[in-house]
Amino acid sequence: MDLLVLLIVLLLASCAQSLDNGLMRTPPMGWLAWERFRCNTDCSTDPKNCISERLFMDMADRLAEDGWKELGYQYVNIDDCWAAKERDSKGQLVADPLRFPSGIKALAQYVHAKGLKLGIYADLGTYTCGGYPGTTLDKVELDARTFASWEVDMLKLDGCYSNSSTKALGYPLMSKALNATGRPIAFSCSWPAYEGGLPPQVNYTLLGEICNLWRNYGDIDDSWDSVRNIINWYARHQNVLQPAAGPGKWNDPDMLIIGDFGLSSEESKSQMALWVILAAPLFMSNDLRTISKCDASILQNELLIRISQDPLGIQGRMILWGKNSIQVWTRVLSSSTMALAFFSQRTDMPYHYTTSLSQLNITAPQVFSAQNVYSGKILHGLGFETKFTVTINPSGVVMLYLYPGKQLTLSRRDKAYPLLL
Ligand code: GLA
Repeated sequence: MDLLVLLIVLLLASCAQSLDNGLMRTPPMGWLAWERFRCNTDCSTDPKNCISERLFMDMADRLAEDGWKELGYQYVNIDDCWAAKERDSKGQLVADPLRFPSGIKALAQYVHAKGLKLGIYADLGTYTCGGYPGTTLDKVELDARTFASWEVDMLKLDGCYSNSSTKALGYPLMSKALNATGRPIAFSCSWPAYEGGLPPQVNYTLLGEICNLWRNYGDIDDSWDSVRNIINWYARHQNVLQPAAGPGKWNDPDMLIIGDFGLSSEESKSQMALWVILAAPLFMSNDLRTISKCDASILQNELLIRISQDPLGIQGRMILWGKNSIQVWTRVLSSSTMALAFFSQRTDMPYHYTTSLSQLNITAPQVFSAQNVYSGKILHGLGFETKFTVTINPSGVVMLYLYPGKQLTLSRRDKAYPLLL
């Protein structure tokens, strides 16, 4: 590297490192191209599904017209493979002229006119993971300015084709550079995922200061195995990860794949419930033009979205992982409410799980009412010692929203038998 560039980089990196953009006080929601559409650039044989302005305009239309936007799904995010293979004569990134003939700025304006926001992708290295021009350290500021001039609202900065020291300089540098543009641009950092996701390689305090969200772990694929593997990794490392999250700074277990090909309906409900418990960003990667009503209803569940967007922004925790392959998760919410999820990784048959708040060590100074987020069924009069039973399907979840309720006089039958939810 040029000595002057190195000097500038070191100087900038040593200045205050704070991403003070006020964005994403609750987990962001939207749509991201990668998992479903990958690096399909073949617009001549697959014009409807290739990475092109048409795909993003289609998704923006669907988000705006099919009820997604009102629920909070507001980002339309481009991932890899949008750029031309070379920078222009001024060194600037340019969109592929055949696939994005109107350019990114026009696309941003299209998206904004629908009341949505546009996200873009870059990579802090010599190439993006897909082999497109990377953002080397000397290009960080130029690229930040370019994205701002295109009126982009979010940047995902990936980490292929670079090393740990480049990342340690580049992520804080990009954070500052985005701030310096004066445009609020949310910043998604893939940095920790490249460093194993755990301390001492990863400094979550620093990440919380420079990024709005970060990928901790490997890429999601269109399979239940992949989803389960991710959930269990977050469960195992929750003592490190859970305190790192909060308003403006989120752990990102990767995209929602509900509506694709790999998940059953039970598994889809589980992914949504667990992502909500984890206070995760909710970026769907699916085809909103063809999604089934059933899958859409999981992603559009209003109670789940309310829980996801709780203003306290406290990430949930797994409180129990039984030998019976049932995990119990809780998320503390505002106004003395909470979410409680029973998640099964069994592969046999529906499992009846009988417990009580006291058995789960959940302090309950009051009596709760509990609403099953998927069935809508409400159980009143849930006290500290009340026994209740949930039936959890294989790969499925029962998630309850607990809120202060009034004491009910239970019938003799209810006293004798656990209440079913
Ligand atoms: C990496 C990222 C993915 C996606 C691809 C694009 O694998 O983790 O999310 O952005 O690169 O090439």
